[in-house]
Amino acid sequence: MASDGPEASTPLTDELLERIRLDGPLRFDLFMDAVLYDPRRGFYATGGRAGARAGDFLTSPEVGPLFGAVVARAVDRWWIEAGRPEKFTVVEPGAGPGTLAAAVRLAAPECGDRLEWVMVERTAAQRARHVDRLGASSALDSPRPLAGVHLISVSALPTGFAADVVLANELLDNLPTRLVERTSTGWSEVWVAAGDTGLIEDLRPLGREDPEVLVLDRVAPDVRSGQRVPLEDEARSWLRWAFGVVGVSGRVVVIDYADTTASMAHRGQGEWMRTYAVHGRGTGPLEDCGTQDLTCDVASDQLADVRPPDVDRSQADFLISHGMDELVEEGRQLWAERAHIGDLAAVRARSRVREAEALCDPSGLGAHRVLEWGPTSPANPVAG
Ligand SMILES: C[S@@+](CC[C@H](N)C(=O)[O-])C[C@H]1O[C@@H](n2cnc3c(N)ncnc32)[C@H](O)[C@@H]1O
Repeated sequence: MASDGPEASTPLTDELLERIRLDGPLRFDLFMDAVLYDPRRGFYATGGRAGARAGDFLTSPEVGPLFGAVVARAVDRWWIEAGRPEKFTVVEPGAGPGTLAAAVRLAAPECGDRLEWVMVERTAAQRARHVDRLGASSALDSPRPLAGVHLISVSALPTGFAADVVLANELLDNLPTRLVERTSTGWSEVWVAAGDTGLIEDLRPLGREDPEVLVLDRVAPDVRSGQRVPLEDEARSWLRWAFGVVGVSGRVVVIDYADTTASMAHRGQGEWMRTYAVHGRGTGPLEDCGTQDLTCDVASDQLADVRPPDVDRSQADFLISHGMDELVEEGRQLWAERAHIGDLAAVRARSRVREAEALCDPSGLGAHRVLEWGPTSPANPVAG
């Protein structure tokens, strides 16, 4: 059943309307893929990105170098746990402008000379920044530098590529998601259709044989009629892909805003599916196509249905467990010693206090979840 709503027109909206009139409605995840990643007019293709000053939204790496410094400590710990191998590869899918990789390199981790950090970024404009601003190599087989972290930037990994860690910060909330609504008879799915004046929703009943719907019945059997939830097939496929990259002995780390499916049903779509533009909330998901970010909370229980994480904790707990407080204290002391000089080192040291507050803010970035899957064992196999 289609319902009309107010939609603002953009060049991408007009293109989508034309495409839908020719080929028929788009399932919501395909629509989300287009508004974010259309190669000419999608949000990321037209310059949308994370960033403290110029960006559209602020992620933890963009708060300042402290986040990357703590991640560098975590990587050192994982490298030591792995037996200090000669080469240690971290893959960072959805690396955005590469700010996390830059901060890890700046932190000079103990494993630095052994560390290969592979940024996998879908958007060409962001990959260009990796090469231009960070001097990253754009080939996986490029020779490593004589010292320090080897940064590599690619659009995708070849099949069979193996790494020790896959770490994604705020990627999964940007993967296209399906959108479904519970009805009195089962589940219906949101498609995007062409109305008289713009894009409109079209709710279509979903067959009970759809295997992904069975996931919803498993994780959220009590969703009530009229409530909506995301159906995150792509995030689940991504997790299976990540397990393939790290094999049985590696580690997958997902950092993102996350919730359970049942809780999202209760909170309402406007709370967990959000749009952002120029550091503010945007308009409705079907509006202003291509000019705003469109994100969805990660359904942690849908991921856990693939394989339950070994650790699920807040970003604040993750950062503290990897020595954030020591770094902040070190910063305080350095500032006390160098405040009279006021050089970059002193200013960076002082800013750690402010960064730590932002990264651990329980009503902001500190509430992000960090989900970690360690080496596979017979007790925690990957499902399906
Ligand atoms: C919200 S941004 C996060 C950027 C960065 N990780 C940060 O925390 O600042 C998500 C990024 O993931 C990228 N992306 C989305 N899907 C991707 C995929 N399948 N593979 C690689 N990158 C992807 C987008 O282009 C975008 O740059």
